[in-house]
Amino acid sequence: MQRANSTEIMAYPPPLSKNKHLTRWVEKMADLTQPDNIHWVDGSQAEYDRLCDLLVDTGTFFPLDKKLWPGCFYARSTPNDVARVEDRTFICSLSKDNAGPTNNWEDPFAMRRKLKQLFRGSMKGRTMYVLPYSMGPLGSPMSQIGVQLTDSPYAVVNMRIMARIGAPVFAEIDKGEKRVVPCVHSVGAPLAPGEQDVPWPCNDEKYIVHFPETREIWSYGSGYGGNALLGKKCFALRIASNIARDEGWMAEHMLILGLESPQDETGKTEKTYVAAAFPSACGKTNLAMLIPPAGFEGWKVWTVGDDIAWIKPDATGQLRAINPEAGFFGVAPGTSVKTNPNAMATLARNTIFTNVALTPEGGVWWEGMTDDPPAECLDWRGEFWTPEIGKATGRPAAHPNGRFTAPASQCPTIDPDWEAPEGVPVSAIIFGGRRPTTLPLVYQAFNWSGGVYAGATMGSETTAASAGATGKVRRDPMAMLPFCGYHMGDYFRHWIKMQRSLSVTPRVFHVNWFRKDETGKFLWPGYSENMRVLKWIVDRVRGRAQGKETPIGWTPHFNDINWQGLHFSRETFDTLQAVDRDQWKREVIGHEEFFILLHDHLPPEMIYERELLICRL
Ligand code: GTP
Ligand code: SPV
Ligand code: MN
Repeated sequence: MQRANSTEIMAYPPPLSKNKHLTRWVEKMADLTQPDNIHWVDGSQAEYDRLCDLLVDTGTFFPLDKKLWPGCFYARSTPNDVARVEDRTFICSLSKDNAGPTNNWEDPFAMRRKLKQLFRGSMKGRTMYVLPYSMGPLGSPMSQIGVQLTDSPYAVVNMRIMARIGAPVFAEIDKGEKRVVPCVHSVGAPLAPGEQDVPWPCNDEKYIVHFPETREIWSYGSGYGGNALLGKKCFALRIASNIARDEGWMAEHMLILGLESPQDETGKTEKTYVAAAFPSACGKTNLAMLIPPAGFEGWKVWTVGDDIAWIKPDATGQLRAINPEAGFFGVAPGTSVKTNPNAMATLARNTIFTNVALTPEGGVWWEGMTDDPPAECLDWRGEFWTPEIGKATGRPAAHPNGRFTAPASQCPTIDPDWEAPEGVPVSAIIFGGRRPTTLPLVYQAFNWSGGVYAGATMGSETTAASAGATGKVRRDPMAMLPFCGYHMGDYFRHWIKMQRSLSVTPRVFHVNWFRKDETGKFLWPGYSENMRVLKWIVDRVRGRAQGKETPIGWTPHFNDINWQGLHFSRETFDTLQAVDRDQWKREVIGHEEFFILLHDHLPPEMIYERELLICRL
C-alpha cells in the first residue's frame, strides 16, 4: 500500500514560514507520522477560539459558566496520564557519562530507531499542528525558539497561554538569526478511518526523550503538563541547561520575585529581586505571588515568574534573570483567596483547568479552595462526588496534581519589568524543600561555594507533581533532579564556575517552610508570613541585618525578624531555627550517599565544603 505523502496532506493555513529548513522538516515528520491535516499555528485569538470549540466538540473541554468563569474551560485527563513520568524521561546524550547517574539514558541510535517505530503513523486520523514558540519575550537576546509538532490541540491551546506563539515567532524564525529547537509530540493514539475520538487520547507507553547534543525533543504517549507542553521542562530546563552550560548562563527551576520597600522620606523605594528554587509542588507559585501580611504596610511583592528562570551575567558582571514563560501552570489544590489571592485573581478568567472538580453550576472546585466543599460535584474522574462519599472512599474531588493554566499578564502583582528583554537583576538565590525535620526555617550560606553546597545537597519530600510514591525525602539538588539535562556533578561545577564571571555575587539562602513538631503539625504558618523571612534576606543582602553564626551558616536572631502583626513565640522560633548536631550528622551522611553516586564528576569544592561542615559540627 502506498503511504500518504505530505504534499497530499491538506495544510491549513498554508505554511506560515518560508524557512526551507523548517518546511522540509515538517514534511519529513508528516511523512513519518501521517496526519490527515497540517495546521500552521498563527497564534491568533480567532484560532484559539476555534481550537477550543473543537476541543468542546470532542469532549476534551467543557466550557465553564460564562458569568462565573469567563473564558474558562475544564478538562479531565485519563487516570494513567496525570503527572510527569520521571521513569519514562530520557536524556539520550552520545555517551551515558554525559547524562550521569541521575538521568535515564538510552543509546541515542537505539532510541532514534525506537522513536521512528513509535511515531510511524502515530498521527493518523489527526491534525498535526506546527506550533512555533518563543521562550522569553520576542526580541529578547535571552529568548530561545522552538517549534513543536503536535497532534494535541489541548497542547496547542495550553502553549498559547504558557509561551509566546504563532506568526511573530515564524517571522523571527524567518530572520534566521536564532537556532530553532525541533520538538515532536504525539499522544500516540492514531485513529482508524471513521473511528470516534476519546476526550483524552494518550498511550500507556510513554517516552519523553531529549537529545542534548542535537537539541531535540521527542515526546510520545502523554498529553499532560510537562510531558506535553514541551517549552516548559523539556526545553526551558533540560535542553536549556545544556545550552546554558555551553554559553555560560543558567537555566533554573526557580521563581523570580521583586521585593519593594515602602517609600522613604524622599518618596523613593528600594526594589530587590530574588530567585528561589523549590522542588515541584513545594511553594514556588505561592511565594512568587505573596501578599505581605499585617505589619508590612507599604511593602510590595512583584511577580516575574513562578517556575523557571534563565539567568545570565550582563556586561557589568551582574546576574540578570528572565522568566521564559508567559503563563502559570499552577497546582490547584490548596490555592484559595486566603493562601494565594493573586493566583485566584489570575485564574478567574481565560484559564484552562485540568483534573479538578466540576460543580453543578458550571464552576470548578478543589480541596482547599473554600472551607466548605460543594454539596455535590463531579470529581476529576468524572464520578459523582459528595463530601460524604469523599470521606467514605478517601478520594479527593480534585487530583492532587490538578492544575490551572493561566496567563501571567492577568496576575495583579505582575512586575512592570516582567517582560524586560534584558531581565531583572538578581541579588539573592534561595533554595528550599519540604523537610519535616533538621533544616531550619532559614539560614544564609557563608559564601558562594557554601551556597552551591546547600543547593547541591537539598532534600525534599516527593510530591504528586510526578508519578510515584509521595512523602519520601530524596535529594533534589537545586530542585533540578528531574530537569537537569546533563551530569549532575558537571552541573555543580558549572554553578561553581559561574561566580568567576560575576562582579557582584548574589547571597545564597536556604529556607524550609515545612518543619514539623512532634505531633506532625507545621511549626511555621507559611504563605504570607514567609514575607518575614524574605525581609531578613533582603536586609542581609543590603548589609543591614544581624546574623548569628551557626555550623551551617548565618541565621537570624529572634529580634532580627519583624514580628509586627504576628504572635509568634520565641520558643517556637528557637525550635524552628534549631541546628541539632545529631540530626545534622545524619544529614551529612545523606549528602555523602548522594555524592558517592556522582563521585567521578563531583567538583572538589563540594568535598571541601562537606569536610568544613563536618569540622564545624
Ligand atoms: P510546581 O508548579 O510543581 O513547580 O510547584 P510550586 O513549587 O509552584 O508549588 P506551589 O506554590 O503550587 O505549592 C504547592 C503546594 O504547597 C500547595 O498545596 C501549597 O498550598 C503548598 N504551600 C505553598 N507554600 C506553602 C507554605 O509556605 N507553607 C505550607 N505549609 N504549604 C505551602
Ligand atoms: C513541576 O512538576 O515542577 C511543574 C509541573 O511545574 S509540570 O509542568 O508538569 O512539570
Ligand atoms: Mn515546576
